[in-house]
Amino acid sequence: PQYPELPDNALIVLIGASGAGKTTLASTWPASQVLSLDGLRGVISDDPGCQDATGDAADVLKLILERRMARKLNTVIDATNLEQPVRVDLVMAAKRHGMPTIAVIVATPLSLCIARQDGRPDNRRVPEDTVRTQHKAMVHSVQSLRAEGFNETFFVGGLNRLEPYLRRLSE
Ligand code: CTP
Repeated sequence: PQYPELPDNALIVLIGASGAGKTTLASTWPASQVLSLDGLRGVISDDPGCQDATGDAADVLKLILERRMARKLNTVIDATNLEQPVRVDLVMAAKRHGMPTIAVIVATPLSLCIARQDGRPDNRRVPEDTVRTQHKAMVHSVQSLRAEGFNETFFVGGLNRLEPYLRRLSE
């Protein structure tokens, strides 16, 4: 396994702003283990950036996650996961299945998250103010992950592609 510090089968929740590199990190797992909210928006609406499709995509994501966890399979959630109720919902589902829950904070500097929006197609570009708010929410999440029920928290710096290894967050 590429991450010996992680349990073989767990729910892995990526947490980070747009442009942090969640999808890039997620691609280090087998594709079948990754549930991407963007990807499912695309499946449902033909447009991965279609915000109107978020609710439907989240419903589908949860259903697939349930069915995978019933099989005790490792699953990575590629979405911003910046809202506490969203994370708590995921953790509660994993607990019902007796699966360990791992948070991975993609702690890429704000300036880099913003710079990475350049050159994206219009429907995938997130406005700077939104990225700023998301980045604050990422920093804020650090203090509450344990109370939300995550068994362990890791982070990645997100600065470059050659540095995907996970560091354990000491609390
Ligand atoms: N990138 C990079 N090095 C990394 C991570 C990402 O150079 N370690 C680059 C990617 O090539 C991509 C951009 O940063 O062009 C954004 O990465 P992505 O994985 O798409 O970020 P996400 O967090 O998934 O962004 P979003 O939520 O907007 O999809």
